[in-house]
Amino acid sequence: MSGRIPQDFINDLLEKVDVSEIVGARVELKRAGREYKGLCPFHGEKTPSFHVVPEKGFYHCFGCGAHGTALTFLLEHDRLEFVQAVETLAAAAGVEVPREQTNVRRDDRRTRLLDVVDRADRWFRQQLRSHPERARAVDYLRARGVSGEIARTFGIGYAPPGYENLFAGLGSDPALRPLLVEAGLLAEREDGTTYDRFRDRILFPIRDGRGRTIAFGGRVLGDGQPKYLNSPESPLFHKGRELYGLWECRRAVRDPQRVLLVEGYMDVVGLAQAGIAEVCASLGTAATRDHLEKLFRLAPEVVFCFDGDAAGRRAALKATHTALDVLEDGVSVRLLFLPEGEDPDSLVRREGPEAFRERLGASRPLSEYLFEELSAELDLGVLDDRSRLVHRARPLIERIPGPMLRALMLRRLADLAELPVETVTGPASSRPSTVPSADRFEESPPEAPSPRGQTMREGTRRRVRWSKEQLAVALLLRRPDLADRVDDDRAEALRQIEGADAALLRSLIARLHEAPGLSTAALIAEQLGTEDHARLIALARRELQLERAALEREFDDTLERLAEGARRAGRARLMERIRSGEASEDELQRYLALKRADAGVPEGLAGAGARGPGAGSDH
Ligand code: UTP
Ligand code: MN
Repeated sequence: MSGRIPQDFINDLLEKVDVSEIVGARVELKRAGREYKGLCPFHGEKTPSFHVVPEKGFYHCFGCGAHGTALTFLLEHDRLEFVQAVETLAAAAGVEVPREQTNVRRDDRRTRLLDVVDRADRWFRQQLRSHPERARAVDYLRARGVSGEIARTFGIGYAPPGYENLFAGLGSDPALRPLLVEAGLLAEREDGTTYDRFRDRILFPIRDGRGRTIAFGGRVLGDGQPKYLNSPESPLFHKGRELYGLWECRRAVRDPQRVLLVEGYMDVVGLAQAGIAEVCASLGTAATRDHLEKLFRLAPEVVFCFDGDAAGRRAALKATHTALDVLEDGVSVRLLFLPEGEDPDSLVRREGPEAFRERLGASRPLSEYLFEELSAELDLGVLDDRSRLVHRARPLIERIPGPMLRALMLRRLADLAELPVETVTGPASSRPSTVPSADRFEESPPEAPSPRGQTMREGTRRRVRWSKEQLAVALLLRRPDLADRVDDDRAEALRQIEGADAALLRSLIARLHEAPGLSTAALIAEQLGTEDHARLIALARRELQLERAALEREFDDTLERLAEGARRAGRARLMERIRSGEASEDELQRYLALKRADAGVPEGLAGAGARGPGAGSDH
């Protein structure tokens, strides 16, 4: 089952299947000449503007701009994973899906890592069944009310006490050791020897979209510290991307209308046990944009759960900000605040699933919460305060990509401020108050270039909402040879940037450096079956109305701005560590070097070995 699906096969497949048949099985279509028409499944409408053109193999909605092939329809409408979607099409066409033997080294390594993690996973589960110390683990789980069935669903395991178990348990094959280290299951000592990272802990496997274990969270049996130990970042595992319980949720609930986002492993397990299976957890981090996009692929409504205390309120505000950037029309976010001192797991056990579902039903829509939070210490009876509200709220609302939701929020803001809606959406606004338009994925024609090309990019961002990372990827897809313009300096800066798009950008650049001359088609085809594939197709599909000659400048500009942002963020992190006294010797040196550079003092002139800020030549 592994190996890529050849691109040629997919192209042939798209020729073979009838898009109107695939779409027609899910949407009511009426024939209109050579086309079919129906109500668009991607946005709410009363008169049909959704067209399917079998001859050309695509569908197009004149209302919302949705556009694609039978394959994208399955990806976007049925929310299938890529491989599933291809298999569905193949079944419709009555053909088998062939697999290529992959020859890219990176993939070999990945496969071997997945394999070794899978073996460890099975071994940990075995320990829960048979290790001499297993009773303590089993008792702990039982005391927390985890049933055997739910433990099986989530693949819960046990890492026994001791430093030298796992490697021996897997047969002491020396070839495994470096892989176990890379996967974060063994930690390395300074002398190069290794030891088990997870010891005497309950293990929660973290699975990827296909149900393969890629990392673990391990809980102490009782009160030790840290309470949870997580696998480190690895080639398989990126915390900001993965959601605990996503795969299990998808298996348990066919087409969830909503999905809960909670904080902890045990919250997911506890809720699932209570029959509330549509739940995932972000892994000890605030929800990222990536997380939200994943959740919206699963269900149109996401409910964030927060503690009712001050920390919960802060987390909620942060999550709200992240959510604004991904709110397309048709999706929604709600916030659920739990009573102080409770988390979803404790609450559902105390109150039962019915009461918990009631709370869910009473959760607050993000829009309501946002206005309440923004006007918390304002007195909307006072004119100045109303103006402050507009001032605070407008930039936030303007980040919302969904034109209808954005318009509704602006109208609500106008009501609150007792202003005509034109004033609120007026000229000072950086984003035109948009009416839903069919071309919102297409860039507006380039405006007259301003001295620094700013207008152009503003235009790009406003209509298409590219992030800088996405823009760079799209430019690379248009002209793969632009990768030549990424030197070591820029590559180093890019390494500092978090997020899935940045990771994608890095991997494309790395691939192009490795294999210069690779075409766009080849680049995309190579990603088949990975999560990046859909992302790439989406980016490649978007129109970039730029002169060919302008691409280089745009690429350079974009990379520079990315690098600058990364440098600034790196510097802020460093300052923070210096301030909190956590900085290492190395970081102090870097700090001093930066200070020197600021003061224009050449490298090497300031005394090395200074022990703190202020001890160097920075005054
Ligand atoms: P909590 O401290 O709220 O724990 O951490 P919890 O989920 O309620 O756990 P139980 O009920 O005591 O077992 C929430 C999440 O934060 C991350 C974990 O993902 C955890 O599930 N976390 C917490 C860590 O990564 N490390 C820690 O030491 C603590
Ligand atoms: Mn808990």
